[in-house]
Amino acid sequence: MTVTAVCPGSFDPVTYGHLDVIRRAASRFDRLVVACLRNAGKQPLFDADERIALLEAVLDDLPNVEVAAFDGLLVDFCRERGVGIIVKGLRAVSDFEYELQMAQMNTTLGDVETLFLTASPLYSFLSSSLVKEVARFGGDVADFVPPIVAERLARFLPPARNRAD
Ligand code: PNS
Repeated sequence: MTVTAVCPGSFDPVTYGHLDVIRRAASRFDRLVVACLRNAGKQPLFDADERIALLEAVLDDLPNVEVAAFDGLLVDFCRERGVGIIVKGLRAVSDFEYELQMAQMNTTLGDVETLFLTASPLYSFLSSSLVKEVARFGGDVADFVPPIVAERLARFLPPARNRAD
């Protein structure tokens, strides 16, 4: 039996923290679908096509990983794909309260189980929002995102000290 899991997120943009969880999940399941929320409620920096292209580029070496976009409820995406397991990373206790609510809602709505991987201590402070802030103010993001992502960030967010405004 082939066991597939879904690793969902906004990935705006993908960080080494996400990649750590994705790679570890991919090594534990036959197939892993990285599901990128197309219409993230907040205004994303990167549009969905770019977020997906970046994910595909940095996950290219993992043959059992597929990147897909989804809209609406995650449980509907899981049902369409016949997947019963969601994998999420937990960085800190502060993540847990919301993740627990979502996991319980997803089990109730769609009979989909959520398995949590604890973030590597190397990346437990990392978030896409913080990376964007560091990039916006001209900080070095090389330790936080793959080079291709850092390059796109620099293009979207020229360091503040180089801007006229
Ligand atoms: O990277 P994020 O922003 O923490 O990812 C959150 C995500 C995309 C996993 C979550 O917002 C989600 O599943 N959204 C789709 C709508 C949905 O199904 N919500 C959960 C019902 S509680």
